[in-house]
Amino acid sequence: MCGIIACVGSDDAADTVLTGLENLEYRGYDSAGVAIQNGTDLVVRKRAGKISELTGGFVRDLPEGVSGIGHTRWSTHGPPTDENAHPHTSASGAVAVVHNGIISNYEALRSELETAGYAFESDTDTEVIPHLVEQYLTQGLDSDEAFRRAIDRLEGSYAIAMMIEGENVVRAARQGSPLVVGLHDDAYYLASDVPAFLEFTDEVIYLEDGDIVTAESGSISITNLAGDPISREVDVVDWDPEETGKGEYDHYMLKEIESQPESLSNTIRGRIDPDEPAVRLEGFPAGCFEDVSEVHFVACGTSYHASLYGARLLDEANVRVRTSRASEFTGRVPDPEGTLVVAVTQSGETADTLGALRAAWSAGADTLAVTNVVGSTMAREADDVLYIRAGPEIGVAATKTFSSQVVTLALLAERLTEDIDGAIRRDDLGSYLRHLSVLPDQIEEVIRTSRAEALSTKYEDRNAYFFIGHALQHPVALEGALKFKEITYEHAEGFASGELKHGPLALVTPGTPVFALFDGKHDEKTHTNAKEAQARGAEIIAITASERTAEFADDVLVIPDTHPDLSGLLANIQLQFVSYYTARRLGRPIDKPRNLAKSVTVE
Ligand code: G6P
Repeated sequence: MCGIIACVGSDDAADTVLTGLENLEYRGYDSAGVAIQNGTDLVVRKRAGKISELTGGFVRDLPEGVSGIGHTRWSTHGPPTDENAHPHTSASGAVAVVHNGIISNYEALRSELETAGYAFESDTDTEVIPHLVEQYLTQGLDSDEAFRRAIDRLEGSYAIAMMIEGENVVRAARQGSPLVVGLHDDAYYLASDVPAFLEFTDEVIYLEDGDIVTAESGSISITNLAGDPISREVDVVDWDPEETGKGEYDHYMLKEIESQPESLSNTIRGRIDPDEPAVRLEGFPAGCFEDVSEVHFVACGTSYHASLYGARLLDEANVRVRTSRASEFTGRVPDPEGTLVVAVTQSGETADTLGALRAAWSAGADTLAVTNVVGSTMAREADDVLYIRAGPEIGVAATKTFSSQVVTLALLAERLTEDIDGAIRRDDLGSYLRHLSVLPDQIEEVIRTSRAEALSTKYEDRNAYFFIGHALQHPVALEGALKFKEITYEHAEGFASGELKHGPLALVTPGTPVFALFDGKHDEKTHTNAKEAQARGAEIIAITASERTAEFADDVLVIPDTHPDLSGLLANIQLQFVSYYTARRLGRPIDKPRNLAKSVTVE
């Protein structure tokens, strides 16, 4: 959800902050704003709408400035209006604040401040912060003390950056919402996420909850709320700034779909040996899962679908496994000693998943985060972490990270099966890994040959779109439908093939497109149910490697022949293209679908 950026000590703060906001727009895009300090004045510009509406002329008269803060918003308290856009300022305009998170005690603070005579201009929870700071300044506290005292009053989650007129200092605090520091010579950057400042520096400090930062040109300090110094390591991130740009592509989504041969190669690199055959996961030596008797996945959205894939593989290997939508996780872990709770999360910041991870940890279970983002909250809070290595993903609709999650979970499933008592190891591991090693090339082939664009023209005007699959194709069908609805805004649902006749078939009318996924192993159920839908007028689009299966279909999206347990990864690329090209024909804002945000840090 919201993204914040701040900088101090760079040559042109206004330019840096606006660049940072553009880089962060995937975190929220219903309103945006900046505050720039030019030594004496604090100039604030903000408005509802996309960053481009802010940069397109509205901020032309901004001073270059030596420090600045900026915000891109995804509304939680109050609609996206100019008034509710950040930065929020104090009554005198001398204090400006940007905030990501939710101040849960804001109603009490607001009524206390209103009683004291402070007038509020917005509906946001954030606005209490500048008023609190100003109140403490008026009472005679210095800027540092006033900021700390205000932070001390807040409950809930926050990443906050604040500036006070006349001071070239950025103050920041973190509690429950992501905040990272970037360092380059005398300049410092603060942001919700590393890609915000990746073109300026790759040296970062991942802040922890409770950290307070005071940054000015040439000096930075990190302390706790009481002011005791805290030392944090400087990490160097290995993401290439090029990776976070759109390059020659019209949309990040298309770039990210087409970068999957590379991202998946990175996911696999050094982890599989088809000759031995063996799977090796760094940090998880042979025997390390010996005490595990049950695996419980918790995740949201696309990551939930990847978890279902991993769970099915474990189930087929006779491992006790459950999968919960993180927002529905009860926190009950009947056998904490033997349970490994695996939080699957691209960002490592999703509030629902973080809540589930913490509940599982409190219940005494071992926790593992499977994530894309080094230094993210869940990477740091879980007992162990396994990275999917997909590289930065900017498009709100997850694409390459789904593939990397599925493959990482497939590798994890092999390692778990190896260690867990009573688990049945696959007898074709060598062949499976060999197929996995050529999967990036096969994805390349799908990218080169896909007919999805032509197909999207044919089916762009239908009322509803269904996706069906059995066994490992079921989560892929769910993901296909999620992607489709996210970016086309058309009605789309995914079903287990066999479930179609238990209700959803009533929705099938002549011309309803049904995308049917075949893996070469479990095709009968999908075939029968697709035929039933076809008999009611549905048009079947088969995603298959088999010409024979394709015969009955109205249309076919061909995938290369692979191991049945991997075929869903190839089918998924075709479905990503179908969603992308349909959304494109319909003129949707593909990278920033309405009402959605890439990383949802509120429950
Ligand atoms: C948001 C995004 C989804 C994503 C989900 C989980 O809802 O819009 O695309 O799948 O969060 O995100 P995570 O970062 O935990 O994988």
